[in-house]
Amino acid sequence: MNAHTKTAFSRRPTDRPVAADVRADLLKDPGFGKVFSDHMVVIRWTKDRGWHDAEVCARAPVTLDPAAAVLHYGQEIFEGLKAYNLSDGTIALFRPDQNARRFQQSAARMAMPELPEAVFLQAVDELVKIDTAWIPKGDGSLYLRPFMFATEAFLGVRPSHEYLFMLIASSVGSYFKGGEKPVTVWLTDRYTRAAEGGTGAAKCGGNYASSLLAQAEAMENGCDQVVFLDAAEHRWVEELGGMNVFFVMDDGSLVTPPLSGTILPGITRDAIITLARKEGRTVREERYSIDQWRADAASGKLKEAFACGTAAVVASIGKIKSSAGDIVISDGTTGPVTSAIKARLVGIQRGEVADEFGWVHRI
Ligand code: PLP
Ligand code: COI
Repeated sequence: MNAHTKTAFSRRPTDRPVAADVRADLLKDPGFGKVFSDHMVVIRWTKDRGWHDAEVCARAPVTLDPAAAVLHYGQEIFEGLKAYNLSDGTIALFRPDQNARRFQQSAARMAMPELPEAVFLQAVDELVKIDTAWIPKGDGSLYLRPFMFATEAFLGVRPSHEYLFMLIASSVGSYFKGGEKPVTVWLTDRYTRAAEGGTGAAKCGGNYASSLLAQAEAMENGCDQVVFLDAAEHRWVEELGGMNVFFVMDDGSLVTPPLSGTILPGITRDAIITLARKEGRTVREERYSIDQWRADAASGKLKEAFACGTAAVVASIGKIKSSAGDIVISDGTTGPVTSAIKARLVGIQRGEVADEFGWVHRI
């Protein structure tokens, strides 16, 4: 399979698509990650043949040997990106090339083969085109989930010799149940997400598996997400379970934790930094401690905080809860800087604000 020319995808559309009226009903209020489209993409990789047998087919369960390496040693990576219906009738993706590259970086970290960027992009185009009817109108989008896992039936511990790349799509609305309401986050003092030299910068399933107990603790405490601190000093704010984090200071500047190798290099994070600097705002990618967060919230130096990511877009953080007490940021409502940043980003993603960085990929 060539990295630069168009790959031949065989197309076997489903003969049992979901009926239009049932689909329309599902799209009214899809929530997040529960409503799935009719098709999927599958591409195989074996050590002797490389990438082969790319196909677009009916969405269906996968058959795996019980000894498949992924089931034992967790060799799995994934991505997340969205397709939007724009008001001019076209369909667009936001920076899909960045997802293709991060997928390659995750693969490299997990000792997996790299899918050529052109093949990743073609897979996304193929699925969006065949499942266009599943993109909600209005505020919703089609969340695309590319993933890859080790399928070789072998219990020895070494990189697998066989993999499956798959791409599925889910019609989604807001990630958080409360919609636009500011989220509350739980500061875990028991668990860490990633240590130096580990897999924190890779989008691998294992990072999420190890975050689930902390996420469950967050939910038990009435919070939407968990905030992780660094593994060495338990002091520096890293990121949330599934989002990067920004702080808005009283001078209008932004602070966000640096890409130290232990957090995910978010594409939304990068877009926000680029947009904020372009409009003359100072953005510091520097370490920010939980003690500072507490002190700045108390003194009023910290005006706003927000989480960002593909699924969550931009979500204002109103409050942090922890065993040491709560921190409320300003009056706990969404601040003007967070609102403006969100409006600009969403405007670009939806084709309503000029795309000066060439981020919008039309299909
Ligand atoms: N951090 C984590 C742990 C994530 O799962 C995500 C979501 O993808 C992000 C950050 C944000 O990344 P992106 O903006 O590329 O979606
Ligand atoms: C995404 O934003 O795409 C993610 O993978 C994060 C997850 C919380 C859904």
